[in-house]
Amino acid sequence: MSKLTLFKEYCEAIIRDGDFHEGLAPAITGLADMLYKLAEVNGNTELERKHISTESGSAIGTFWAAQCIKEIFRTQRFARGLFKAIQHVRQKHTGRPAHVLYAGTGPFATLALPAMALLTPKDVQFTMLEINPKSYKMLQYILNTLGLNSFVRHFTITDAATYKLRNDDVDIVLSETMNRALIKEPQVSIMLNLASQLSQKTIFIPEEIKVSLYQHDTNDKMGHKLDDLMVFDKKFMFELIEKCKNSEWLFEEKKLTVDLLPSTVLHYETEIKVYQSDFLKSSDCSLNFPEKLKTKDLIGRKVLKIHYTSIDIPGFRCQFLD
Ligand SMILES: C[S@@+](CC[C@H](N)C(=O)[O-])C[C@H]1O[C@@H](n2cnc3c(N)ncnc32)[C@H](O)[C@@H]1O
Repeated sequence: MSKLTLFKEYCEAIIRDGDFHEGLAPAITGLADMLYKLAEVNGNTELERKHISTESGSAIGTFWAAQCIKEIFRTQRFARGLFKAIQHVRQKHTGRPAHVLYAGTGPFATLALPAMALLTPKDVQFTMLEINPKSYKMLQYILNTLGLNSFVRHFTITDAATYKLRNDDVDIVLSETMNRALIKEPQVSIMLNLASQLSQKTIFIPEEIKVSLYQHDTNDKMGHKLDDLMVFDKKFMFELIEKCKNSEWLFEEKKLTVDLLPSTVLHYETEIKVYQSDFLKSSDCSLNFPEKLKTKDLIGRKVLKIHYTSIDIPGFRCQFLD
């Protein structure tokens, strides 16, 4: 079977309906294997492993960005969500291809590959942004080798958190530049920067990222939700853009009362609505892993003041008061 036929077969299996099916893991493994071999990614060099620090978070190195493909449900839900969103834009019969702005492609543009494999350049065009020159170079090679260049309207090495759009005919913004609890990586700044240059008609993928605070006891792993800390969706973004001028994003502080025992653990949970019926929850992938708060030696009733920051090292900052 030719490489291109195999590529299409993998991509078709990745976006097939259903949560888990027998073709899913082999398709992801097969596609990853094909891309790793083509790009010769091995993580042996410092250049491939090094992260890039920006004012709005860390852009993970080429080797780590490549690894993301192996997170089966992450790749499935994002790639399928994007594919469906493109179909929905196409149904509006605009007479032009759907235009996707893909911020943070990594070396494989993994999330866009099924759309490229199964649609035509008349259906969809991509503007691609990537900050890491090594990933950018690898992706150029991959796109050339797989004959996918006709899908690319524009591809730049740039910081997507400050990038100025060339035009506003973007139908879909796609970015997976995040970590659990929206820590460390620049998802929030990237989405806000792009949203601030686009209309509310644009589809943003993921559609919603919800970070909530949970309390549990070491004997009761399930715990209970104390509150939602941030529901990062289109409504949230456009309200913040309206409030904050000059892209200085200021996030509201929340105050919560917590009762801490020596055995109490507080943690953040992250749920992602990728697009419509595609979600990432619970232990679907590393983006959903719980993130613990530091509460060592704190006992009794406390007032917790908590707010998000998108600068330097993004994440929630908290303070416990008596
Ligand atoms: C988590 S990886 C995901 C890669 C790929 N999109 C995927 O889903 O498999 C995030 C990618 O976004 C890039 N990135 C992070 N911050 C960026 C920024 N501010 N501007 C452009 N690219 C960025 C990183 O270099 C990395 O390649």
